[in-house]
Amino acid sequence: MNNFEFLNPTKIIFGEGTVEQVGKEAAAFGDKALLVYGGGSIKKTGLYDKVTRQLADNGIEVFELGGIEPNPRLATVRKGIDICRANGIGFILAVGGGSVIDAAKGIAAGVPYEGDVWDFYVRKATCKAALPLGSVLTLSATGSEMNGGSVVTNWEENLKLAHLSIHTYPKFSILDPTLTYTVPADQTAYGSVDMMTHVFEQYFSHTADTPLQERLCESILKTVIENAPKAIANPEDYAARANLMLCGTYALNGGMISVGVANDWASHGIEHELSAIYDIPHGAGLSIVYPNWMKYVYKERIERFVQFAVRVWDVDPAGKSDEEIALEGIQATRDFFTRIGAPATLAEVGIGDDRLAEMAAKAVQFGPLGHFKRLNQEDVERIYRLSL
Ligand code: NZQ
Ligand code: ZN
Repeated sequence: MNNFEFLNPTKIIFGEGTVEQVGKEAAAFGDKALLVYGGGSIKKTGLYDKVTRQLADNGIEVFELGGIEPNPRLATVRKGIDICRANGIGFILAVGGGSVIDAAKGIAAGVPYEGDVWDFYVRKATCKAALPLGSVLTLSATGSEMNGGSVVTNWEENLKLAHLSIHTYPKFSILDPTLTYTVPADQTAYGSVDMMTHVFEQYFSHTADTPLQERLCESILKTVIENAPKAIANPEDYAARANLMLCGTYALNGGMISVGVANDWASHGIEHELSAIYDIPHGAGLSIVYPNWMKYVYKERIERFVQFAVRVWDVDPAGKSDEEIALEGIQATRDFFTRIGAPATLAEVGIGDDRLAEMAAKAVQFGPLGHFKRLNQEDVERIYRLSL
């Protein structure tokens, strides 16, 4: 196990009805808030009314930025920064999925910074301060509700980049599983794929002697595998939605499940290029790419893939070679993603082979990807080709 430091400052408020606490929580951060939300799901579900009433009841003046895109755009983040600066707003409340929370983080980091917020994403500047933000999560997937990461797309340049900072952890996040009842089956599947792949990024590692971290990862994976099909079959299954929500939050919250473990994150880099050009849902891209990454790299440490197959997918190892067991585990992953309705090929989401080289070049713009196997441009292009 490697040496590590771990700090996660986000307060989690979990359970049915907890949205009623949002006004009180927000009031701790001043009397003006920017309410950030997406394309309208919160208006349809009545959540918008509940939240704005709560804020008003707690004496908070509300400014709004709706219409955050899935795969949120830099231009929208800049708009939010302008609204905050023009109105002296000191707090941001994100109500939505990962895209909304990520946009809120971009705004929070951008307001006190004298340059352009994109500097943080292209690693030209380090974030030294951010406005406080809170979230009400409506979709289980990214873990953005309890981490400092945000992913923003510069659509004009077809670049989708992540920024991580201790300053952009939400101060609080309200996790009410009933708010995810209306998430459609496809987004439930993509979110489940996303959280599983967050675990993969931390689990497929060369770091030795980390049995607790490995078992934490395996527990999350098994819990998603049990609960995603239930939530898709019965969207109002509280237990399934609650378990998925907790899995999403645990899977990517600053590394609690992988402290002292070298992480990979190559597949996320590979996926982000797909979303940056073709605007596909993040989890759909991961469903296509991840099993192909696995096939490309499993020989680097086959024992870990054998462990994955046996412990997560209950593959019976009797009479099989390590290679057979490892490949069975990878196939089980592919089959599960397909079973819950996530795509398996780029063709299924309308992507051909014309821009693979360009995406591979962009994916390695800051250097080779990954840790489990270092991937250069050629490797990345091969994984795209395997995904066609
Ligand atoms: O925009 P609205 O109308 O709210 O609709 C959204 C959107 O169309 C809808 N939705 C959300 N909650 C709903 C709902 N529909 C019905 N009922 C509800 N309760 O779902 C659609 C997708 O929402 P989005 O926020 O885009 O999904 P997700 O949470 O999967 O976020 C994806 C974004 O997060 C980034 C991804 O790259 C992508 O841009 N990621 C962020 C990470 C982080 N901050 O740590 C890590 C991830 O690896 C990921 O990269
Ligand atoms: Zn992800």
